[in-house]
Amino acid sequence: PDGEQAERFQARIDADDRIEPNDWMPEQYRRTLVRQISQHAHSEIVGMLPEGNWITRAPSLRRKAALLAKVQDEGGHGLYLYAAAETLGVSREELIDQLLSGRAKYSSIFNYPTLTWADIGAIGWLVDGAAIMNQIPLCRCSYGPYARAMIRVCKEESFHQRQGYEIMLTLSRGTPEQKEMAQDALNRWWWPCLMMFGPPDGESQHSDTSMRWKIKRFSNDGLRQKFVDATVPQAHFLGLTIPDPTLHFDEAGGHWVYGEIDWDEFRRVLAGDGPCNRERLAVRRKAHEDGAWVREAALAYAAKRSAATRQ
Ligand code: 3HC
Repeated sequence: PDGEQAERFQARIDADDRIEPNDWMPEQYRRTLVRQISQHAHSEIVGMLPEGNWITRAPSLRRKAALLAKVQDEGGHGLYLYAAAETLGVSREELIDQLLSGRAKYSSIFNYPTLTWADIGAIGWLVDGAAIMNQIPLCRCSYGPYARAMIRVCKEESFHQRQGYEIMLTLSRGTPEQKEMAQDALNRWWWPCLMMFGPPDGESQHSDTSMRWKIKRFSNDGLRQKFVDATVPQAHFLGLTIPDPTLHFDEAGGHWVYGEIDWDEFRRVLAGDGPCNRERLAVRRKAHEDGAWVREAALAYAAKRSAATRQ
């Protein structure tokens, strides 16, 4: 029967059916979704840290309000995604334990430091720009709760990208020092953003099953190329230089051809040896401990409420 069910399941996927939590699904489909959705959720939560670092130091009230709203949004994205993962039978506590123990992955990009205010512009423009490239196709993912979470996330993501680009525009049209800050941020964030899309297609261990099950709609290299083609003209408009001396436009193919990505750096960051990996986890562990009393109070209150309703 499992063979027939697996065939019926694949026929549903091929017909662009939406799979819902109570539908039959192969164990491997469930497992790879828990893997990806939980890592996506962890990325949103850890992603609050590099930006949160600048909320108290934003250069104006307007910039502070936009950054505050963006960081709050990322927390909400984490919430939608943990909730989507829970529909697959895994508990939030379990997922958070995996993150805090260092066993879970989250996006490599959040292990880099935010050294100047221009980094906040580069993150909104490039990191959220890359996230949009990756999250738009996920709105058509075969698993219903994940696809629906993405629709809401993508609406907020475009505000994140716009406010980042506006910061870069202001700096690149400001004093020479401000333009240099913007260029320095682009130099530090460009290559780690290309790594966000994952390893080259030939080394991607999940792409073929994720594509067959319509979780992943475009390959890692396919989305990476889309991001480069969309972003290079934006950098030119800013009057900034992409830190890739070999970058050139290939007329025949109609694409910007970029240089070699340092996959050793990527592997080091994934192995926990990036610039900020240890610091990010230490901050998350402390926040979790500092928040324990809130969880205990809420649980005690809920227990009292349910005891009262039982009488
Ligand atoms: N950082 C950390 N790990 C990564 C990674 C990255 N940039 N790219 C790939 N990996 C990991 C994969 O998780 C996998 O390891 P695992 O088996 O332990 O999970 C391994 O490297 C091999 O990569 P694959 O290409 O085989 O893995 P996937 O098919 O899962 O593709 C992905 C990787 C494209 C990141 C996919 O997981 C995905 O689309 N995830 C959801 C979207 C996401 O996480 N986006 C980035 C962060 S969210 C964000 O930016 C928030 C925004 O608001 C700022």
